Parts: sequence; C-alpha cells; structure tokens
Amino acid sequence: MCGIFGYNGAKGAPFKVKEGLKRLEDRGYDSWGVAALKNNRIDIYKRVGSIGEVNKIPLDEDSSIAIGHTRWATHGGVENKNAHPHLSSDGSFALAHNGIVENFQELKQDLQSKGYEFSTETDTEVIVKLVEEHSNKNIDFTEAVRKAFKDLKGRNTIILLDATKSRIYAVRNGSPLVVGIKDDEIFIASDTLSFSNETNQIIEVENNQMVEVNRGIKKLEVSNGDEVDYKIKKMNLEESRIDKEGHPHFMIKEIIEQKHTIRNATLYSYEELFPLINSIRQAEHVYTVGSGTAYFAASQIAYILRRESQLNVTEIKAYEISSYRDLFKKNDVIIAVSQSGETADTIEALEVAKQKDMTVASIVNMIGSTIGKMSDHLFLARSGPEICVAATKSFTAQVAWGYLVAYSLTNRFNRFQDKVDKLTTEIEKLFESGIVQDIGQLTKTLVKEEHFFVLGKGKNYNIALEGALKVKETSYKHFEGFASGELKHGVIALIEKGVPVFLIVSEDENKEDMLSTASEVKSRGAYTIGIARNNNDLFDYFIKMPNLKQLDPLINIIPFQILSYKLAVALELNPDKPRNLAKSVTVK
Ligand code: G6P
Repeated sequence: MCGIFGYNGAKGAPFKVKEGLKRLEDRGYDSWGVAALKNNRIDIYKRVGSIGEVNKIPLDEDSSIAIGHTRWATHGGVENKNAHPHLSSDGSFALAHNGIVENFQELKQDLQSKGYEFSTETDTEVIVKLVEEHSNKNIDFTEAVRKAFKDLKGRNTIILLDATKSRIYAVRNGSPLVVGIKDDEIFIASDTLSFSNETNQIIEVENNQMVEVNRGIKKLEVSNGDEVDYKIKKMNLEESRIDKEGHPHFMIKEIIEQKHTIRNATLYSYEELFPLINSIRQAEHVYTVGSGTAYFAASQIAYILRRESQLNVTEIKAYEISSYRDLFKKNDVIIAVSQSGETADTIEALEVAKQKDMTVASIVNMIGSTIGKMSDHLFLARSGPEICVAATKSFTAQVAWGYLVAYSLTNRFNRFQDKVDKLTTEIEKLFESGIVQDIGQLTKTLVKEEHFFVLGKGKNYNIALEGALKVKETSYKHFEGFASGELKHGVIALIEKGVPVFLIVSEDENKEDMLSTASEVKSRGAYTIGIARNNNDLFDYFIKMPNLKQLDPLINIIPFQILSYKLAVALELNPDKPRNLAKSVTVK
C-alpha cells in the first residue's frame, strides 16, 4: 500500500508534497515523511501518525524539489525509523517505496554478507542498499537505480531524490505511478487525485518503466534502459474537490451523496453497454470478482445476473482465485469490481483470467486505474472521489450498474430507467424522513453492546454481509452478517438475552422465512431491529423502508452505513480513518 509523491518545480516543494500526501492518505496513514533538497543536501522529516491535520513541516520552503510518503506498515513496526523516505548511508539520496519486496530476506542476507548494515526492519532499506551497491560499481546513478530495481521481486514502485544531480527518479512495477505536468512544475505520485487540484495533464507510466525528472522528463524501459517516447494526456478529471462540504466527516457526506451517485453509475446508453452485453451472451460462464466491500458488490451483481438474467454466474473472492483457474475458458467473461482499480488481489485475479483469454469487464470508480487499463470493457462508477476508507457510495454505484447490465441483458433497459428514477426519489425521501436522526437514536441504545448480528436472505444476503463489515470497520464492534437460513445450523447458539439482531425483511418470497427467523431469535431474548416495509410485533425497533422490490438492496444498505458512522462518532473514533485499514490495498 502506501502513497508516494514527488515534486520538482518552484520553491515551496515541501508544502506541495505535504498537500499531495494528504490526498494520498487513503493508501495508509500510520506514519509519513518528506525529504527535501536544498543546497545539495537532503533533509528529512518523519512522523508517526497521519499527516491529515499537519499544517507546517520544519523543512526549508526554499527547496524546489522534494519527495514524500504516507505509510501502511508491512515490514517493521509503526515507528519513526521505519517511516519513509529512507536516506542512503552517505546522504546522497532518499528513497520511498510502495509495495513488498518479496525476495527481501535473500537480498538482505546477500548485502549483509557484503558488509552492509541495516538500521530498520523494512524491506525498503534493502532497496536503498541495493542502489548503493550498484552505484559503487562506478556506473551512472540512473543505471544503478535501474539495475537495483531489476533485482526486486514482487509489485514495487519506488521514488528517489538524488542530491548529486538534483533529480527525482521513479520506477514502477505493479503499484501505481503517474506523472502530472503544469507549466514548469512536475508531480510524480501514486494517483492523479493527489495532484488533480494542480493539473489534469498527465503522463502515464507503465509497469517496468522509469522516469527521470529534473526540469524535463525522460522515460526509460527498466529492461534495457532504452529511452521511450511519452505522450501528455489530458485527463477528464472533474476538479476533484476533496472537501467535506460542511459535513463533519467524509463518511456522512458520502452516504448522503448516494442520492445522486447511484443514478450516475447507471447513466450508460444501451449502445455503450452493448459490447459487454454481447460478450456476456457469447460466454459459457460469467464470473464476478472483487475484494472487501467490492467483493460483496461483485457477489450481489452475480446474484442479480442469476436472478434477473438467468445466467450462469459465479462470484469469486479475488484472493481465492486459485481453485477457479482451471475452470476458466476462452471467451468466458470476468467482471472486476473495484473502487480504486488498484487492488493487488483483484489485479492478480485478472492476470489469471487474461492468461486464459477471458474477456475482462470492470466497474471502477477511479479514473486511469490499472484495472481499467486491463479491461476490454471498462465502465466508470462516476461516484466522485470516495475519501472515507469505509466504502459506501462506491458500493451502491457498483451494484446499481450490475442491475443495469442484468436488465439490459433481458431487454428491459427502459424499465430499469423507471426503477432507478423511483429509487432515487425514495432515497431522497428516506433522508428527508430523518433516517440519520432515527439511527442516531438507535445508536444510543446500542453503543454499549459488543456483539451484533444481521440476518438477510436472497437479495438481502449480501447486504447483511456488507452491513456487518461496515460496522466492524468503523466501530471495531463484533458484528456478523449471516444468511437467515444459517441460524438453525449453528448461529443460533450465539443468541442470548439482549443481543441486538437486525433483520432485513423485503416484501418478497422470503418474507415469511425472515419473520420466522425473527420469532426464533426473539424467543431466545434477542433485541430485534426490523429493517422492513411494515412494522411487526416481532420487532423491538423498526426502521421503515420503502418497497422497491428487486432494487431493495440498494436502499437497505443505507441504515447500516449510517449506523456504522453513528457508532464511530459515539465512540469518539474517526470514521474516515479506521485503525489498521487502508482504502487502496496495493499489496497482497
Ligand atoms: C480494502 C478497503 C475496502 C475495499 C477493498 C477493495 O480492503 O479497506 O474498503 O472495499 O480494499 O478495494 P477496491 O478499491 O478494489 O474497491
């Protein structure tokens, strides 16, 4: 994971890097560091914790060239010494890294046998020493960086600040990297969002390419060092405002934004959808894949495609792809679901699918992502930047797009438009009806509880799973989602007096089963909370939802998102930055 940012331009480089890192915190925020060059000397400032609220860093603002890093620890504890950038032994360069050096132990032993001493537990320090080792062979620094990078195994992207030539170098393999250009200023970062307030002119860096930046840019192939041409592209980035717009947290802002983001995700014409529809019609089997919340969206999309389009569709957790490998066939379709488009597990799953000549489709929120580039059919979720680590609006956007595909496959494209209009109106009404305050009241009753359950069935099953994950992520409460059918097969042993059990009840063929479940948990003393169209004596607390039939899941998730937010706030936790999590998980 981790975010990297470099700047070469006018004075004030440490400030620019600090601002860029703040926009990269979705990649990790356990510690951060900035290295700035001034008068051929590199000064580094590092701190444990998030850079989020930092206003000023004690580095010389006369510097016009600097790099920085925001970390999600993989190797070595969360301590100042393990924070990046790391300085070389002679102070001539500083290096920051995003990824995992899979062969770091082997490389470390080799370097130790040559006399190198290590002062951190990071795999990153191995790269620093490797660059030193290659530099000692009297080769040009660019060559030393290139050769060191070639020794690394795994998905790694590095950025270096070199004092001798006053240059920044960045090398990519796997983890993302992009360059931004604004007049005489150059930005090098993990994503476009981090500098989208500055420029929308970008240069893409592919895997196994490196860039050398001083006043201009050189792009080289890592394999042989040959220079390659590059094009400056204009990205269609709406001025991505990273602004809470008056809300206390991004999470609640993003939850409320679902009033329009769900619609945005479905604004594709039939002509735009047709190439995918065609591929799906020709496929023997369709798979959906994702990780975390995106997996639950993928799972819900698979459910919808099975139910609404009668297709053979299997959902796959990206990190459990191995047993499917031999089933994949040419022309089968795999639909990747991802907010960031950079999740390493999902990318690896797609690499397997591509080896098998499958057709790759994706629904991704971030523009210019790796998953987007790997896709034969890319659809953007168009939710706007999602800053809160816990995904909310991207989930409903992805699922809504899945409905659009399912309805279009069965020649009901227009019918879906009516349905999504109604859904949008009902979401508006839900917020107007005071759902946020209502769940706020419920939170006061529940905040002291430690164990919670949520049960769903059919179309609401994935909503139970995603709802439970949401609450776990932001409140650290033990919250489990189950299929209601599982209750009798073991889960019921966990039900005791007073334990809160949420029941998601739609007006569908599963209603009676869900009410029987409510009765079973209630008779064992559970405190039942019904998320349903109609109240029932079986509910101790009732949250009224509209009847949107097949589209119910898209609105039924909202009470859980709000609960997750309210519990975090009640517990004085920051819902936007839960402990140990990162939004963009670019390592395995
Ligand atoms: C991490 C995040 C989750 C996210 C998952 C997949 O686990 O904490 O919120 O759902 O990655 O991310 P993606 O960007 O692929 O949707």
